[in-house]
Amino acid sequence: METDLRSGRDKSLTICRLDDIPDGGSRGFTVETPRGVRDIFIVRRGDNVFAYENSCPHVGTPLDWVPDQFLSEDRSHIVCATHGAKFAIEDGMCFSGPCHGVPLPPIAVEIAGGMIVLSGT
Ligand code: FES
Repeated sequence: METDLRSGRDKSLTICRLDDIPDGGSRGFTVETPRGVRDIFIVRRGDNVFAYENSCPHVGTPLDWVPDQFLSEDRSHIVCATHGAKFAIEDGMCFSGPCHGVPLPPIAVEIAGGMIVLSGT
């Protein structure tokens, strides 16, 4: 289930609480930024989060066939549900599949006060 973004006061936008994403899991969001509405997803690893546009570099489709399911079965990497491209969680680089060597578009996020905040929009 995608969640609407709540706007922050400055250039940063609060997406959700860190604890809203299970450790080792992922979640998709539709965020409204000054540059328009963007579909993104976030993968959580402990106290670290990694965010990307939900758009496969192969043909631009969303990566998740089932909402919020962006990861492989063993949760070791990101998978595109359309043609099976595999991406590293830490940098979004495709290491297998039709867009090999092309990264997912990164989204700048940070954790502040237990909240995941979108920055640099
Ligand atoms: S659309 Fe993602 S691998 Fe083809």
